[in-house]
Amino acid sequence: MTILGNGFDSSERPNVPDSSDFNELPQAVWPITAKRGADDVVEVGGVALTDIAEEFGTPVFVLDEEDFRTRCRAMAKAFRGADNVHYASKAFLCTTVVKWAQEEGLHLDVASGGEMGVALHAGFPASSMTFHGNNKSEQEIADAIAAGVGRIVVDSFIELERVSAAAAAAGVVQDVFIRVTPGVEAHTHEFIATAHEDQKFGFSLAAGDALEATDRAYTDPHLRLTGLHCHIGSQIVDADGFVLAAERILKAVANLVGRHGDAVTQDLTTLDLGGGFGIAYLPGEFPLEIQGLADEILAAVEAEAERLGLPTPTIAIEPGRSLIGPSMVTVYTVGTTKQVQVDERLSRRYLSVDGGMSDNIRPALYSAPYDGRIVNRRVSGDRVPSRVVGKHCESGDILVNDALYPNDIAEGDLLAIGATGAYCYAMSSRYNMLQRPAVVAVRDGQARLILRRESLSDLLSLECENPS
Ligand SMILES: Cc1ncc(COP(=O)(O)O)c(C=O)c1O
Repeated sequence: MTILGNGFDSSERPNVPDSSDFNELPQAVWPITAKRGADDVVEVGGVALTDIAEEFGTPVFVLDEEDFRTRCRAMAKAFRGADNVHYASKAFLCTTVVKWAQEEGLHLDVASGGEMGVALHAGFPASSMTFHGNNKSEQEIADAIAAGVGRIVVDSFIELERVSAAAAAAGVVQDVFIRVTPGVEAHTHEFIATAHEDQKFGFSLAAGDALEATDRAYTDPHLRLTGLHCHIGSQIVDADGFVLAAERILKAVANLVGRHGDAVTQDLTTLDLGGGFGIAYLPGEFPLEIQGLADEILAAVEAEAERLGLPTPTIAIEPGRSLIGPSMVTVYTVGTTKQVQVDERLSRRYLSVDGGMSDNIRPALYSAPYDGRIVNRRVSGDRVPSRVVGKHCESGDILVNDALYPNDIAEGDLLAIGATGAYCYAMSSRYNMLQRPAVVAVRDGQARLILRRESLSDLLSLECENPS
């Protein structure tokens, strides 16, 4: 079995099941307000997707505000405080979503000067931001400190020196977390608890680097060590990996206390367990149940802290995908279609849409599966092997690789793909000079544009030489 970058197993490519009603939306995959109306058109947030397509064009990302806020609240409740939940803005970032996160009381994880800049533009307080990245530049560090960023997650010895020097230059004591590699890597259905030191992020616990880094941070007069951090993977569907990582990191805290005394835990109060909570991308898949996960982690941490004679730390988390992933769908228009005889047994229908790998690179990048549905009408034809492809000059420009779709899907139909909120727009490109789609937020029957569609002028605005 090959575990891919996002935790999907390339040998298991489930189709939309033949027996299910294709016109029924799989609830765990689609936003909570999504439903097929009496006129058979799918609506999200009380707005018909046909109306959105008509007003804003396609492809278009549609973001369900209620879905996002509901997820934020559930996460905050489960982890005993909204400020323990740091929305991983890399999943999807724009002013509106930052404001929603702020209104819900969440903190924010930013991983570059650009992400921090957008969050600051949105008015998000720097003091509630956690600044990540394995190669932050000196400028980014200086800017973060000048903005008053809440904490910097230090990822290497060089960075420890950079942050210390920048804090000294600014005349402040900077709060830092140390990012630890706990030797746990978790993905969809399994975790591995021995290897995975061989990666670019963090200080290895096993090799002793984490101990040295925490020692240095604790004794550096320009730094205040307030937490330890780890991020063990993505699209994880059980608690075991998180629990093991937390236990291992608690031992590192105990080690530090053993060397420097109980005073360590006056400032070092937080274990940040990163993100990675799994969501459903296909019918029949189930998201990680958040309350159960939180209960299991918090109970294990409390027990282990007690065993080690430590105060129980605050558990912080950095969910991205599990907050924004299911809140968005992408609506495309079907253009050309064609039938391809793959071999004597398989004939496949190709449905080309007006976007593709530039607005969703994940299928091409790591064979991520997606659920597509026709949203402008009910379809009823026989289910035939189908592939949804984009309009880019790459044969790997595939959005849904292998599904059984009704054969009456035709040019002009609106095909929407569910659970595209995380790492789709965020990873978008301008390949083939396609312009990034618009993002439209919906709520209570109202649609509003929150990111406009890129235009040809946007592309040309980067040109430094005119043809004349
Ligand atoms: C450090 C860190 N925190 C949080 C996240 C968010 O992960 P997810 O979107 O899977 O919850 C990531 C994702 O790459 C990460 O690297």
